[in-house]
Amino acid sequence: MTDTWDTIADWYVELLRTGSAMHTFNCDVLLDLLPERLDDTRVLDIGCGEGVISRATAARGAAVVGIDPSARMIEHARAAGGSPPGTVAYAIDDGCVLNTIADSSVDWATAGLALNNVPDFDAALVAVRRVLRSSGRLAFTIPHPCFEAPRATWTQSSGGAARRVVGDYRAEGFWRSDDPQAVRRAGNQHRMISTYLSALVRHGFLIEAVTEPAPSAQVVAGNRRRAGLPPFLALRARCG
Ligand SMILES: C[S@@+](CC[C@H](N)C(=O)[O-])C[C@H]1O[C@@H](n2cnc3c(N)ncnc32)[C@H](O)[C@@H]1O
Repeated sequence: MTDTWDTIADWYVELLRTGSAMHTFNCDVLLDLLPERLDDTRVLDIGCGEGVISRATAARGAAVVGIDPSARMIEHARAAGGSPPGTVAYAIDDGCVLNTIADSSVDWATAGLALNNVPDFDAALVAVRRVLRSSGRLAFTIPHPCFEAPRATWTQSSGGAARRVVGDYRAEGFWRSDDPQAVRRAGNQHRMISTYLSALVRHGFLIEAVTEPAPSAQVVAGNRRRAGLPPFLALRARCG
Protein backbone atom coordinates (compact mmCIF):
# COMPACT_ATOMS: atom_id res chain seq x y z
CA MET A 1 0.00 0.00 0.00
CA THR A 2 1.25 3.48 -0.85
CA ASP A 3 1.24 5.72 2.22
CA THR A 4 -0.70 8.97 2.29
CA TRP A 5 -1.32 11.49 5.06
CA ASP A 6 -4.60 9.72 5.75
CA THR A 7 -3.03 6.28 6.08
CA ILE A 8 -0.24 7.49 8.39
CA ALA A 9 -2.44 9.89 10.39
CA ASP A 10 -2.94 7.54 13.37
CA TRP A 11 0.81 6.81 13.48
CA TYR A 12 1.66 10.54 13.19
CA VAL A 13 -0.72 11.50 15.98
CA GLU A 14 0.74 8.80 18.25
CA LEU A 15 4.26 10.06 17.42
CA LEU A 16 3.42 13.64 18.42
CA ARG A 17 1.36 12.83 21.48
CA THR A 18 3.90 10.43 22.96
CA GLY A 19 6.51 13.19 22.71
CA SER A 20 8.47 13.84 19.50
CA ALA A 21 11.41 16.17 20.23
CA MET A 22 11.53 17.22 16.57
CA HIS A 23 7.87 18.21 16.45
CA THR A 24 7.98 19.98 19.81
CA PHE A 25 10.99 21.92 18.51
CA ASN A 26 9.21 22.72 15.25
CA CYS A 27 6.24 24.13 17.17
CA ASP A 28 8.61 26.29 19.27
CA VAL A 29 10.43 27.56 16.16
CA LEU A 30 7.16 28.58 14.52
CA LEU A 31 5.74 30.17 17.67
CA ASP A 32 8.92 32.25 17.99
CA LEU A 33 7.86 34.04 14.78
CA LEU A 34 4.49 35.04 16.25
CA PRO A 35 3.51 37.66 18.84
CA GLU A 36 3.33 36.46 22.46
CA ARG A 37 -0.36 37.41 22.55
CA LEU A 38 -2.83 36.86 19.72
CA ASP A 39 -6.00 38.19 21.35
CA ASP A 40 -8.59 39.56 18.89
CA THR A 41 -6.63 37.91 16.10
CA ARG A 42 -7.86 35.39 13.54
CA VAL A 43 -5.34 32.71 12.60
CA LEU A 44 -5.52 30.22 9.75
CA ASP A 45 -3.36 27.14 10.37
CA ILE A 46 -2.61 25.50 7.02
CA GLY A 47 -1.89 21.77 7.08
CA CYS A 48 -2.85 21.70 10.74
CA GLY A 49 -2.56 17.92 11.08
CA GLU A 50 -3.71 16.87 14.54
CA GLY A 51 -3.76 20.53 15.60
CA VAL A 52 -0.59 21.12 17.60
CA ILE A 53 0.04 24.59 16.13
CA SER A 54 -3.69 25.49 16.12
CA ARG A 55 -3.97 24.74 19.84
CA ALA A 56 -0.76 26.63 20.62
CA THR A 57 -1.95 29.79 18.85
CA ALA A 58 -5.39 29.50 20.49
CA ALA A 59 -3.59 29.32 23.84
CA ARG A 60 -2.18 32.78 22.97
CA GLY A 61 -5.73 34.06 22.56
CA ALA A 62 -6.40 33.67 18.82
CA ALA A 63 -9.57 32.50 17.09
CA VAL A 64 -8.06 29.74 14.96
CA VAL A 65 -9.24 27.78 11.95
CA GLY A 66 -7.10 24.75 11.17
CA ILE A 67 -7.41 23.22 7.70
CA ASP A 68 -6.01 19.99 6.34
CA PRO A 69 -6.92 17.78 3.36
CA SER A 70 -6.61 14.64 5.48
CA ALA A 71 -10.02 13.76 6.94
CA ARG A 72 -8.37 11.48 9.51
CA MET A 73 -6.05 14.27 10.72
CA ILE A 74 -9.05 16.58 11.10
CA GLU A 75 -10.90 13.88 13.09
CA HIS A 76 -7.96 13.70 15.50
CA ALA A 77 -7.72 17.49 15.71
CA ARG A 78 -11.41 17.86 16.49
CA ALA A 79 -11.23 15.13 19.13
CA ALA A 80 -8.38 16.99 20.86
CA GLY A 81 -10.47 20.18 21.13
CA GLY A 82 -9.16 23.69 21.70
CA SER A 83 -6.83 25.54 24.06
CA PRO A 84 -8.46 28.54 25.76
CA PRO A 85 -8.47 31.51 26.01
CA GLY A 86 -8.84 31.37 22.19
CA THR A 87 -11.02 29.07 20.10
CA VAL A 88 -10.29 26.45 17.46
CA ALA A 89 -12.40 25.15 14.57
CA TYR A 90 -11.28 22.73 11.88
CA ALA A 91 -12.16 22.10 8.24
CA ILE A 92 -11.09 19.69 5.53
CA ASP A 93 -9.49 21.85 2.85
CA ASP A 94 -6.52 22.06 0.52
CA GLY A 95 -3.86 24.68 1.18
CA CYS A 96 -3.68 25.39 -2.57
CA VAL A 97 -7.35 26.40 -2.65
CA LEU A 98 -8.66 27.36 0.83
CA ASN A 99 -12.27 26.99 -0.29
CA THR A 100 -13.56 27.14 3.29
CA ILE A 101 -11.89 30.49 4.10
CA ALA A 102 -13.41 33.83 3.13
CA ASP A 103 -11.44 36.56 1.38
CA SER A 104 -9.56 39.02 3.66
CA SER A 105 -10.67 37.21 6.80
CA VAL A 106 -7.46 36.27 8.67
CA ASP A 107 -4.64 38.22 10.32
CA TRP A 108 -2.09 35.42 10.40
CA ALA A 109 -1.57 32.29 8.35
CA THR A 110 0.65 29.65 9.95
CA ALA A 111 1.94 26.43 8.40
CA GLY A 112 4.09 24.03 10.40
CA LEU A 113 5.90 21.56 8.12
CA ALA A 114 2.97 21.76 5.70
CA LEU A 115 3.90 23.96 2.72
CA ASN A 116 6.53 21.37 1.78
CA ASN A 117 3.55 19.11 1.09
CA VAL A 118 1.51 21.33 -1.22
CA PRO A 119 2.03 20.34 -4.86
CA ASP A 120 1.80 23.94 -6.12
CA PHE A 121 3.47 26.56 -3.91
CA ASP A 122 2.40 29.42 -6.20
CA ALA A 123 -1.25 28.36 -5.90
CA ALA A 124 -0.88 28.16 -2.12
CA LEU A 125 0.51 31.71 -1.99
CA VAL A 126 -2.32 33.02 -4.19
CA ALA A 127 -4.81 31.39 -1.80
CA VAL A 128 -3.02 32.74 1.28
CA ARG A 129 -2.92 36.28 -0.16
CA ARG A 130 -6.63 36.08 -0.91
CA VAL A 131 -7.60 35.15 2.68
CA LEU A 132 -5.14 37.45 4.49
CA ARG A 133 -6.19 40.95 5.49
CA SER A 134 -4.10 43.75 4.00
CA SER A 135 -1.81 43.82 7.06
CA GLY A 136 -1.74 40.02 7.32
CA ARG A 137 1.29 37.81 7.79
CA LEU A 138 2.35 34.30 6.87
CA ALA A 139 4.68 32.34 9.19
CA PHE A 140 5.84 28.86 8.28
CA THR A 141 8.43 26.18 8.83
CA ILE A 142 9.67 23.55 6.39
CA PRO A 143 12.23 20.77 6.77
CA HIS A 144 15.50 22.55 5.99
CA PRO A 145 15.78 22.10 2.20
CA CYS A 146 19.59 21.85 2.31
CA PHE A 147 19.87 19.09 4.90
CA GLU A 148 16.53 17.33 4.36
CA ALA A 149 16.87 17.14 0.57
CA PRO A 150 15.63 13.96 -1.14
CA ARG A 151 17.43 10.85 0.05
CA ALA A 152 19.89 12.79 2.26
CA THR A 153 21.79 10.34 4.42
CA TRP A 154 24.70 10.15 6.89
CA THR A 155 28.28 9.05 6.59
CA GLN A 156 30.97 8.60 9.22
CA SER A 157 34.61 8.10 8.39
CA SER A 158 36.57 6.05 10.93
CA GLY A 159 37.25 8.29 13.93
CA GLY A 160 35.66 11.31 12.21
CA ALA A 161 32.47 13.17 12.92
CA ALA A 162 29.23 12.17 11.22
CA ARG A 163 28.46 14.19 8.10
CA ARG A 164 25.20 14.76 6.26
CA VAL A 165 25.40 13.63 2.66
CA VAL A 166 23.17 15.53 0.25
CA GLY A 167 23.24 14.73 -3.43
CA ASP A 168 19.91 15.87 -4.77
CA TYR A 169 19.45 19.46 -3.59
CA ARG A 170 18.50 20.72 -7.06
CA ALA A 171 16.11 17.81 -7.72
CA GLU A 172 12.86 19.66 -7.06
CA GLY A 173 9.54 17.86 -7.02
CA PHE A 174 7.72 15.05 -5.31
CA TRP A 175 9.67 12.33 -3.56
CA ARG A 176 8.88 9.72 -0.97
CA SER A 177 11.12 8.33 1.75
CA ASP A 178 11.47 4.54 1.68
CA ASP A 179 12.11 4.48 5.45
CA PRO A 180 8.98 2.89 7.00
CA GLN A 181 9.47 5.02 10.15
CA ALA A 182 9.92 8.35 8.32
CA VAL A 183 7.17 10.96 8.22
CA ARG A 184 8.04 11.62 4.61
CA ARG A 185 7.03 8.13 3.55
CA ALA A 186 3.72 9.94 2.90
CA GLY A 187 5.54 12.03 0.29
CA ASN A 188 7.03 15.49 0.23
CA GLN A 189 7.63 18.27 -2.30
CA HIS A 190 11.28 19.29 -2.33
CA ARG A 191 12.04 22.90 -3.32
CA MET A 192 15.23 24.86 -3.14
CA ILE A 193 15.42 27.78 -0.71
CA SER A 194 15.59 30.19 -3.66
CA THR A 195 12.31 28.76 -4.98
CA TYR A 196 10.53 29.51 -1.68
CA LEU A 197 12.01 33.01 -1.37
CA SER A 198 11.45 34.00 -5.01
CA ALA A 199 7.82 32.85 -4.88
CA LEU A 200 7.17 34.93 -1.75
CA VAL A 201 8.63 38.00 -3.46
CA ARG A 202 6.74 37.28 -6.71
CA HIS A 203 3.44 37.12 -4.80
CA GLY A 204 4.04 40.47 -3.13
CA PHE A 205 5.16 39.33 0.32
CA LEU A 206 7.78 41.30 2.24
CA ILE A 207 10.08 38.90 4.04
CA GLU A 208 10.46 39.92 7.69
CA ALA A 209 12.32 37.03 9.26
CA VAL A 210 14.31 34.00 8.14
CA THR A 211 15.63 31.68 10.84
CA GLU A 212 17.57 28.41 10.93
CA PRO A 213 17.67 27.64 14.65
CA ALA A 214 20.14 25.18 16.12
CA PRO A 215 18.43 21.95 17.16
CA SER A 216 17.16 21.81 20.73
CA ALA A 217 19.02 19.75 23.35
CA GLN A 218 16.20 17.18 23.15
CA VAL A 219 16.60 16.83 19.37
CA VAL A 220 20.36 16.39 19.71
CA ALA A 221 19.91 13.90 22.57
CA GLY A 222 17.78 11.79 20.20
CA ASN A 223 20.38 11.93 17.41
CA ARG A 224 23.78 13.41 18.23
CA ARG A 225 24.64 13.64 14.52
CA ARG A 226 22.09 16.45 14.25
CA ALA A 227 24.12 18.84 16.45
CA GLY A 228 25.19 21.77 14.28
CA LEU A 229 22.58 21.27 11.56
CA PRO A 230 19.35 23.29 11.62
CA PRO A 231 16.50 20.83 11.02
CA PHE A 232 14.07 23.53 9.92
CA LEU A 233 13.96 26.71 7.89
CA ALA A 234 11.45 29.23 9.25
CA LEU A 235 10.08 32.30 7.49
CA ARG A 236 7.76 35.16 8.31
CA ALA A 237 6.45 37.49 5.61
CA ARG A 238 3.82 40.19 5.49
CA CYS A 239 1.56 41.34 2.70
CA GLY A 240 3.29 44.14 0.84
C1 LIG B 1 4.18 17.02 8.86
S1 LIG B 1 2.42 17.24 8.92
C2 LIG B 1 2.36 18.73 9.89
C3 LIG B 1 1.09 18.83 10.67
C4 LIG B 1 1.08 19.94 11.71
N1 LIG B 1 1.18 21.27 11.11
C5 LIG B 1 2.18 19.73 12.71
O1 LIG B 1 3.02 20.64 12.90
O2 LIG B 1 2.21 18.65 13.32
C6 LIG B 1 2.04 17.82 7.28
C7 LIG B 1 0.56 18.11 7.08
O3 LIG B 1 0.39 18.71 5.78
C8 LIG B 1 -0.84 18.27 5.31
N2 LIG B 1 -0.98 18.49 3.85
C9 LIG B 1 -0.68 17.65 2.83
N3 LIG B 1 -1.04 18.21 1.66
C10 LIG B 1 -1.57 19.42 1.93
C11 LIG B 1 -2.17 20.45 1.15
N4 LIG B 1 -2.25 20.35 -0.19
N5 LIG B 1 -2.66 21.54 1.79
C12 LIG B 1 -2.56 21.65 3.14
N6 LIG B 1 -2.02 20.71 3.94
C13 LIG B 1 -1.53 19.61 3.34
C14 LIG B 1 -0.88 16.79 5.69
O4 LIG B 1 -2.17 16.22 5.61
C15 LIG B 1 -0.31 16.85 7.09
O5 LIG B 1 -1.31 16.97 8.07
